[in-house]
Amino acid sequence: MTSCRDAFPAPKPAPAPDRPMTTTHVIVEDRPAHVPPGTLGDRIRPDFPILNQLPSPGRPALAFLDTAASSQKPRAVIDALTTYYETTHANIHRGVYQLSEHATAQYEAARATVADFIGAPDPHEVVFTRNTTEGINLVANAWGRRNLRPGDLIILTVMEHHSNLVPWQLVAEETGAELGFVGMLPDGTLDLVSLDALLARAPKLVAFSHVSNALGTIHPAAEITRRAKAAGALVLVDGAQSTPHIPVDVVALGCDFLAFSGHKVLGPTGIGVLWGRREILDGMGPFMGGGSMIRRVELTHSTWADVPARFEAGTPAIAEAIGLGAALTYLKGIGLERVAEHEHQLLEYALDRLADVPGVTVLGPSDPARQAGVVSFTVDGVHPHDVAAILDEGNVAVRAGHHCCQPLLREMDLVATTRASFGPYTVQSEIDALVTGLRRVNAIFNG
Ligand code: ALA
Repeated sequence: MTSCRDAFPAPKPAPAPDRPMTTTHVIVEDRPAHVPPGTLGDRIRPDFPILNQLPSPGRPALAFLDTAASSQKPRAVIDALTTYYETTHANIHRGVYQLSEHATAQYEAARATVADFIGAPDPHEVVFTRNTTEGINLVANAWGRRNLRPGDLIILTVMEHHSNLVPWQLVAEETGAELGFVGMLPDGTLDLVSLDALLARAPKLVAFSHVSNALGTIHPAAEITRRAKAAGALVLVDGAQSTPHIPVDVVALGCDFLAFSGHKVLGPTGIGVLWGRREILDGMGPFMGGGSMIRRVELTHSTWADVPARFEAGTPAIAEAIGLGAALTYLKGIGLERVAEHEHQLLEYALDRLADVPGVTVLGPSDPARQAGVVSFTVDGVHPHDVAAILDEGNVAVRAGHHCCQPLLREMDLVATTRASFGPYTVQSEIDALVTGLRRVNAIFNG
């Protein structure tokens, strides 16, 4: 079983806790007089308490450049969680008393918010999961085990995150299905010629990430889906790195499944979404058995509830789903086009500044229009873990390692890269801090 943990030096002792500062809530669309002008990042930053802490004594301000791993949370999400626990918590879909009914109503309202966020025609098509990984495993098990036969082809790409590789490896091993892989061109984009060659073999399913977490490549998801559907395949889109950063509409994409994670879209950890086309979900058996997912239970067999309850066994992550609803409402209030534009400006600024740092090689698309706010790079003669450790001395947080994409890194003859990634709250001065840190890396390792 492949591990997603990048081999990393022993953790340092935890720093002294940072001192919190009061934060101001910002109305993004209609800026009140007290809100500073500037980029989207400047304007919404006061909404994120963690980004407004004073650094520990002796440390510079935090430059948080690891949003692709997990995003920070606005006050609106933190408040939604607290308010829910302080005023409304009870188990859902079970109680006939008012508190439980209120909790159920909020949980189902969050489902409707998710549906609206991704353009899903029917909230019943939205299944709450723990994260993207669980959503993909749900499809691999509940659809794959039932429908795949020996020799059936599943198409993936060499650029996938382990969470969109390993579940298919497991189901292929069990069913005798075969895996085929779309290749990568030298600039970190997908080789669509190799896709067409695989599609000629009448695949059952095509599963690919919308945006590469390791390189930031934005794949032509609607075009890949169009070709895959023409070949008769079902299509699963891993939206973990697209839903937080660019507009995603399942009808416009034309896909059959979309999986994403709450913690990457400014929401809580422990909650994710699998959207599926209703008629396909209706035809799928359960993924996990337990309470809530049944219609009738006998001692030796059972029948299943309708979707989405069929796929939500046990008490779900109620507060987290409500927090996710608050996150998506917040993001929608900003507008995903605006988020994408802001992050693109940051990307261009970062590419420009990194081009001036000796020894830095930026990986990924040669055309920035095909890249989200993720910059993966190497520094000549320095291991990415050392790069990240020295950046951390300047309070610059980046990820170093294989980014849960070992096959992709092997395609590039690398074992690791350093990765900086942006969110709507990212500001240029954080990229400046990254560049300053990289000059220090060069000074230490390359004289
Ligand atoms: N998948 C997350 C990342 O790329 C954890 O960092």
